[in-house]
Amino acid sequence: MAKAKTAYVCADCGAEHNKWQGQCVECGAWNTLSEFVVQPAQKSMGAARQGGYAGAANGVARITPLTDVLVTAESRTLTGIGELDRVLGGGLVDGSVVLVGGDPGIGKSTLLLQMLGKLGEKLSSVYVTGEESLAQVAARAQRLDLPLQPLHALAETGIERILDQIAATRPRVLVIDSIQTIWTEMLTAAPGSVSQVRESAAKLTRFAKETGTSVFLVGHVTKEGGIAGPRVLEHMVDAVLYFEGESGSRFRVLRAFKNRFGAVNELGVFAMSEKGLREVPNPSAIFLSAHSGPTPGSAVMVTREGTRPLLVEVQALVDQSSLGNPRRVALGLEQNRLAMLLAVLHRHGGVAAYDQDVFVNVVGGIRVQETAADLPVLLAVLSSLRDRPLPEKTITFGEVGLSGEIRPVPNGEERLKEASHHGFQRAIVPKANAPKKGRVGDMEVIGVERLAQAIDACR
Ligand code: TYD
Ligand code: MG
Repeated sequence: MAKAKTAYVCADCGAEHNKWQGQCVECGAWNTLSEFVVQPAQKSMGAARQGGYAGAANGVARITPLTDVLVTAESRTLTGIGELDRVLGGGLVDGSVVLVGGDPGIGKSTLLLQMLGKLGEKLSSVYVTGEESLAQVAARAQRLDLPLQPLHALAETGIERILDQIAATRPRVLVIDSIQTIWTEMLTAAPGSVSQVRESAAKLTRFAKETGTSVFLVGHVTKEGGIAGPRVLEHMVDAVLYFEGESGSRFRVLRAFKNRFGAVNELGVFAMSEKGLREVPNPSAIFLSAHSGPTPGSAVMVTREGTRPLLVEVQALVDQSSLGNPRRVALGLEQNRLAMLLAVLHRHGGVAAYDQDVFVNVVGGIRVQETAADLPVLLAVLSSLRDRPLPEKTITFGEVGLSGEIRPVPNGEERLKEASHHGFQRAIVPKANAPKKGRVGDMEVIGVERLAQAIDACR
């Protein structure tokens, strides 16, 4: 058998180079190359690369009409934690590899240990810890009131030794906490380096596909917000879940960023407690901040990330800038979108903010990616700029187009019902989302078609 060779891969773009150099010639990034192993080519390389998916006979893939392909529904197991099952797309899939990312201390280890406890006797499992000792894991399990009987742990970081042990005991679920601590003997690079993370994850993925074991990889998040290791890690796994939340808040949100077995942007909501994470099956209004009265710079919107409507507060602070290039900072929202919205506000609302610093934040540490946040963001910015609160008990949502039109968003009726249910009395929404009679329950609904109308409706 040919010997494994090493090559150098760019952490930003994934390009391969034969020798180390300071700059990646593909993407121009500096200092991003690191060593990794190239497996020698084998006869069935094609199938092996695909993780053995293809309809290969004798290692040769054939072109097959899809009508001849036997479709077997993937076998799923409910973990017993409803919010986690929801984000996974309806339970845990056999042989799937799930990457769970999040800031240190956010609760990743707690969540996964609780999951193994719930799975208990249903599915055998091993929790591999590279960060904590066995005693610490056992103490945590005890504190969380988990049944210790079905829980098995392994304190090891060498991937070859981990796989040896796992192959002997054949658990159905494997948790690796964390992938950044795992290393392979094939590389000389330090554990935690891009090449070690990538190579170890590749071995684990191959193992999962070959044996049908479900593998969870815990990954820490870097300063830039990505999971440490190249983007390649996200491509290698079946699902990427992010665990998010503000350190000051006791609520945590689990979000599917990628999922081959379910919908993305599905949210699972948890509350932290002494006894670990508790599910919040009905999270609709927990992200509203508890103001005593209306405050300038605040707008409440109904977002529908995933399959549930959620009331969230968007806050804006607009302040005279001392910089030549004023700051635009968006937390929980897309930065470029904010710049675009400010341009629309100037052109079609007649309100200039070019000499102002603009900060926008979604309360509760959650992230809103849908365009329905456009109108709330603009109204919050305007409210802060004018130092005048929006009318009391008002909600709003809607996409804003470049020509100042307010475009409808999906599931308008459901969003309005949710707001009315929580006692809101006025809604400023796209005209196409407003019911003809102008009311939902006790709530007055004002349909607007242009930005100027929306601004007028806030008076
Ligand atoms: P931990 O699960 O270790 O976070 P991570 O694995 O993401 O780094 O949790 C961090 C700390 O918070 C830990 O000391 C336990 C504590 N904690 C609770 O007390 N209750 C909870 O519900 C959670 C999630 C964590
Ligand atoms: Mg941890």
